[in-house]
Amino acid sequence: MSAPHTGSTATIPAGTATVPYPDTPDADWWRQAAVYQIYPRSFADANGDGIGDLRGVISRIDYLKELGIDAVWLSPFYPSALADGGYDVADYRDIDPRIGTLEEFDEMVAALHGAGLKIVVDIVPNHTSDLHAWFREALASPRGSSARGRYIFRDGKGEHGELPPNGWASIFGGPAWERVTEPDGTPGQWYLHLFAKEQPDLNWDRRDVRDDFLATLRFWSDRGADGFRIDVAHGLTKNMDPAFDALRTVIDGLDTFEDGQHPIWDRDEVHEVYAEWRTVFNEYAPPRTAVAEAWVEAHRLARYASPDGLGQAFNFDLLEADFDAAQFRRIIADNLALATRAGSSTTWVFSNHDVTRHATRYGLPPAASARPGDMLVGGPDKAWLLRGGDPAEVDIARGLRRARAATLLMLALPGSAYLYQGEELGLPEVGQIPAADRQDPTFFRTHGAEIGRDGCRVPLPWEPTGTSLGFGPYGSHLPQPTWFADYAAGPQAADPTSTLSFYRRALALRHELQGAEHLHWQDAAADVLHFTRPGGWHVVTNFGTTPVDLPEGEVLLASAPLAGGCLPGETTAWIRV
Ligand code: NOJ
Ligand code: CA
Repeated sequence: MSAPHTGSTATIPAGTATVPYPDTPDADWWRQAAVYQIYPRSFADANGDGIGDLRGVISRIDYLKELGIDAVWLSPFYPSALADGGYDVADYRDIDPRIGTLEEFDEMVAALHGAGLKIVVDIVPNHTSDLHAWFREALASPRGSSARGRYIFRDGKGEHGELPPNGWASIFGGPAWERVTEPDGTPGQWYLHLFAKEQPDLNWDRRDVRDDFLATLRFWSDRGADGFRIDVAHGLTKNMDPAFDALRTVIDGLDTFEDGQHPIWDRDEVHEVYAEWRTVFNEYAPPRTAVAEAWVEAHRLARYASPDGLGQAFNFDLLEADFDAAQFRRIIADNLALATRAGSSTTWVFSNHDVTRHATRYGLPPAASARPGDMLVGGPDKAWLLRGGDPAEVDIARGLRRARAATLLMLALPGSAYLYQGEELGLPEVGQIPAADRQDPTFFRTHGAEIGRDGCRVPLPWEPTGTSLGFGPYGSHLPQPTWFADYAAGPQAADPTSTLSFYRRALALRHELQGAEHLHWQDAAADVLHFTRPGGWHVVTNFGTTPVDLPEGEVLLASAPLAGGCLPGETTAWIRV
């Protein structure tokens, strides 16, 4: 056994910057909130059409309350042809009729608020759907028209404009340009789409585009949205100078351009947009919050998280890290320091609708090396399953053991914790989905070379029996494997040793223990992390396999049974000293 861990080595004060928000009650609710992400089409289906809906969410509010989260983030619920799981928005101020109505949205918000839960709405500003009224208008309008100017249209190259304006490849594979047919029926211009061809990029130089999003933010804020999650927040503003035509993909050159000089990503002008958004957020009491999905260099993240901008930014570093003490410690220290400098609190996340579930990632065999586009699927090594690796090679038990340990560590950190639906059940990724059932555009645009993200979007198992395991009265829009029944929420709720009971206990204790946003590292062996929070809360994670001693005190919770008073390998314990 290793030596006991004593002695403070570092103090990281967090949240010390002055936050110039209007001084209203509850204005800081987000700083240490546990936010539960719902992918609405796969959460709960009330009307039995196989697609999750708002009534389904309403029917599960008791479950959410009992789980102990503070807020719910709903992935897009807007009218959409589902070319990209709803991130192709046809109308930003309406609800997909397959999901519900605006009245049901209001009912859901009232029920969530009644249960003491906040609601975060997903905003997708980089691109619309090709079914959006603006894009339909652009297609019906001539070259050079104002309607085309809301998007990024260009003439093609070649004698007849038959070649794309440049050779950029989209993030989802295939060209980043699509040719349109002009209103007179002739082959015409091309438009830019960083993602699927059904997701044309907007031109953020346009004042009417900017104003329309301000109207959208007010629309949902007026309806009770407490905050927003901003999709591809580092996209939006672009420099389409032909000098950049030499890039091969839209993510090419990210490491070679000077700060703010990439033609597409993380340009300085994007912060003008968010400064305007902030004035809208601060019209409300408490101010509406926002969290940026911005895949940028760590030192550039602070501008998104600034109180003058969106206020908070996702930090995906733990999601991309190995289960490794040194990596975790560096990431935690760096991100707490960065958030403090930004005047924000940081965010922690292991799973979401874009990456292989962490219970599976932590059980993967040694993986393939990185390829372009891996940033979308959780970084190098995490894309293995998404490329069709054999699910039989996953060590399920080890993956879950490490996932529980990592989650218990994460829930003890200052900052907000983002949880993805189903992780509280210990759900692994669904590796094998027949090609005919797949939905993710990455699968189609890479001709199956990348199997995509459907495996983390399979509808939840609520009960061990039934045609869709309690997801709804009939089927489910993505097939559930038979082994999903073993993870059903119902039986887990009644089993004190289940992963669901473990999450409930952890989230309840987190509320009891959470105080000032401070963290103190304690000395520990190389494979061990040990830190304290105010109030005598000690958190010890053993990343290795040899049991280690625990500090004297009351063991509040452990991610796996203790071994004779010692902390076994790949386990976290919370202790009150
Ligand atoms: C990030 C979203 O999380 C992802 O699901 C989506 O495909 C892209 N942005 C494009 O909107
Ligand atoms: Ca439904």
